[in-house]
Amino acid sequence: MWKKLTCVCLLTIFNICDAGYIAAVVEYSSLNEPTPNQTIERNVVNYVNTIESLKQHNVQIVVFPEYGLTDLVQDPENYSIIVPPLYTSDFSNASDALLRLSNAAREHGMYVVVNVLEQDHDNSTNNTLYYNTNVVFASNGTLVAKYRKINLFQEPKLTPGNELVTFTTDFGKFGLMTCMDILYYNPSQTLLDGTNVTDVIYPAAWNSYLPFYLSLEVQVGYVLANKVNLLAANINEPSNGTGGSGIYLNDGTVLRRVITDKAATSVIFGNVDTVINTSDFILSGFDLLSGGDITRERLANYKRLRDFDHQAYTFRSLDLSKENISEPLCHDCFCCNFNIVALQNETNSSEVYKLLAYSGQTIFDSKSVQIQLCGVVGCLTDDVSTCGEIPSSAYTTKFRQISINSTYMPRNPQAFFRPMSLKGDLLTIDNATYSEVVDEDSLDEVILNFTVTTTSDNVVLFGLYGRDDSSIVSISALFIGVLFLIQNIF
Ligand SMILES: *[C@@H]1O[C@H](CO)[C@@H](O)[C@H](O)[C@H]1NC(C)=O
Ligand SMILES: *[C@@H]1O[C@H](CO)[C@@H](O)[C@H](O)[C@H]1NC(C)=O
Ligand SMILES: *[C@@H]1O[C@H](CO)[C@@H](O)[C@H](O)[C@H]1NC(C)=O
Ligand SMILES: *[C@@H]1O[C@H](CO)[C@@H](O)[C@H](O)[C@H]1NC(C)=O
Ligand SMILES: *[C@@H]1O[C@H](CO)[C@@H](O)[C@H](O)[C@H]1NC(C)=O
Ligand SMILES: *[C@@H]1O[C@H](CO)[C@@H](O)[C@H](O)[C@H]1NC(C)=O
Ligand SMILES: *[C@@H]1O[C@H](CO)[C@@H](O)[C@H](O)[C@H]1NC(C)=O
Ligand SMILES: *[C@@H]1O[C@H](CO)[C@@H](O)[C@H](O)[C@H]1NC(C)=O
Ligand SMILES: *[C@@H]1O[C@H](CO)[C@@H](O)[C@H](O)[C@H]1NC(C)=O
Ligand SMILES: *[C@@H]1O[C@H](CO)[C@@H](O)[C@H](O)[C@H]1NC(C)=O
Ligand SMILES: *[C@@H]1O[C@H](CO)[C@@H](O)[C@H](O)[C@H]1NC(C)=O
Ligand SMILES: *[C@@H]1O[C@H](CO)[C@@H](O)[C@H](O)[C@H]1NC(C)=O
Repeated sequence: MWKKLTCVCLLTIFNICDAGYIAAVVEYSSLNEPTPNQTIERNVVNYVNTIESLKQHNVQIVVFPEYGLTDLVQDPENYSIIVPPLYTSDFSNASDALLRLSNAAREHGMYVVVNVLEQDHDNSTNNTLYYNTNVVFASNGTLVAKYRKINLFQEPKLTPGNELVTFTTDFGKFGLMTCMDILYYNPSQTLLDGTNVTDVIYPAAWNSYLPFYLSLEVQVGYVLANKVNLLAANINEPSNGTGGSGIYLNDGTVLRRVITDKAATSVIFGNVDTVINTSDFILSGFDLLSGGDITRERLANYKRLRDFDHQAYTFRSLDLSKENISEPLCHDCFCCNFNIVALQNETNSSEVYKLLAYSGQTIFDSKSVQIQLCGVVGCLTDDVSTCGEIPSSAYTTKFRQISINSTYMPRNPQAFFRPMSLKGDLLTIDNATYSEVVDEDSLDEVILNFTVTTTSDNVVLFGLYGRDDSSIVSISALFIGVLFLIQNIF
């Protein structure tokens, strides 16, 4: 008995001394039942079981994905719930779903983040408004945060939120964003501006588009650019190009990640601070699996959606017969400098790589926006329309180094850059570093540098993605339809 007590005390001391915390994210394959209530009910049961199973691993916070409780429904009317005021701790009058999730958080002493369709009554107009909302239960079951998604994506019946939301725990200050928010200046950058946020919670139902908007690629890019920990939980629906979740450390390390080919729920968790190399950190279908990463050789059933406006971009073929390639490529006044070392003895001369540069308008999320792109991109053939596709068998060319630099003038406070990398297995290129440094000679300019110096193969894209959100112009749905059609035909 005494021994047991000592052990408990030591563990407690260890936990206090340890600066990190144990986080879990759930890549969830949502269930769809005959009625809305049954759908929510079934999914809540799975959530509660997951929370319970994570308790034995001392998980302190668990994040479930966007639309996990309801599946990707279009009409919120019969799926939405009323979220009581912040700091509510008694949910006996609230929806059954919130009551049971709050109880699970309290019973297992875990912060629980779930995404719900929220309904709220607008007294001024006497209308019911619907929101896409992340709710956070503290480890005592109290509702401590509620974030309404600001950048809605094809959710015409919902009202966008307009507030940044953070909450503080014993183990860090957290900010919240949802899905499409990650690629908008507000909130993805404003959330980190003078707020002391160290950790970002990110539920998503993210559709991946080749080659710039793959789920894991965008998540890693956010972490490298902003040096925050990220807990990204995505809905799992690979047949629709949806899936890819991860826990990332603020130095850019991928602690855990998952991307799957078949519809399946995966639970990943680990200590956000130090990387512990044990094999038991992935749960799948609520059972333990062995192995660190779930990587896949073939992701044939992960739908390949594509958004690549090749006609607008400037390309130049990379001469792989030269060991050292150091050259700029410009589109109008925007220039990218490339420094590439290809291993000569392992270069496959039949493979095609091109440099890419672009500065101009694009259609993003049904809006016209200003973007800037730099990239080294693999192509299936010499035809630029095949660049950035996933090859049917992996590219074998090995790069000993890829380095891209560029500059931008942050005159516009709503401009931001993200590093982007993608391999043929839909994962990212590990060990890459990214920096933004103000140029000492011309204080107006910021020098961007994205570099990988560990040998990489099966490279599909290594590049920079810049955006200026002050230039966003909404365009009519009809016009977008035509553009999407054009993009999909080519
Ligand atoms: C569905 O759930 C809501 C809220 O929990 C409840 O008010 C409603 O009566 C339920 N509907 C059915 C058909 O059970
Ligand atoms: C919501 O449920 C009611 C009652 O079953 C039904 O009349 C209505 O059509 C449903 N709304 C939607 C959008 O399905
Ligand atoms: C629940 O509703 C009942 C009846 O309206 C009320 O008396 C009670 O105070 C409410 N409980 C909470 C925790 O709000
Ligand atoms: C709206 O009206 C209801 C009922 O009259 C009231 O309980 C609620 O507090 C009001 N909400 C706001 C935001 O004023
Ligand atoms: C608000 O709308 C409800 C239902 O649509 C209606 O019953 C009620 O009378 C309205 N209230 C006011 C103040 O208009
Ligand atoms: C529950 O925890 C939250 C966050 O730590 C705290 O603000 C709140 O006071 C606690 N509530 C109760 C009833 O202990
Ligand atoms: C951020 O931290 C600094 C230093 O601890 C503190 O002075 C400041 O008030 C904090 N800001 C916010 C928004 O919490
Ligand atoms: C696939 O994703 C698209 C875009 O979000 C959505 O409109 C569609 O309903 C999804 N398909 C399925 C089967 O969920
Ligand atoms: C950018 O890269 C080029 C080519 O590698 C190099 O010559 C130049 O010094 C770099 N510029 C800056 C500002 O880092
Ligand atoms: C190619 O050369 C590199 C060093 O430049 C060496 O490490 C590697 O083993 C060589 N590969 C083959 C297949 O010979
Ligand atoms: C590169 O990344 C891999 C996987 O994340 C890691 O195992 C390895 O230690 C890293 N190598 C270096 C040189 O940092
Ligand atoms: C770019 O970053 C790499 C890796 O941190 C570094 O070795 C290199 O010197 C940097 N290049 C420039 C031009 O700053």
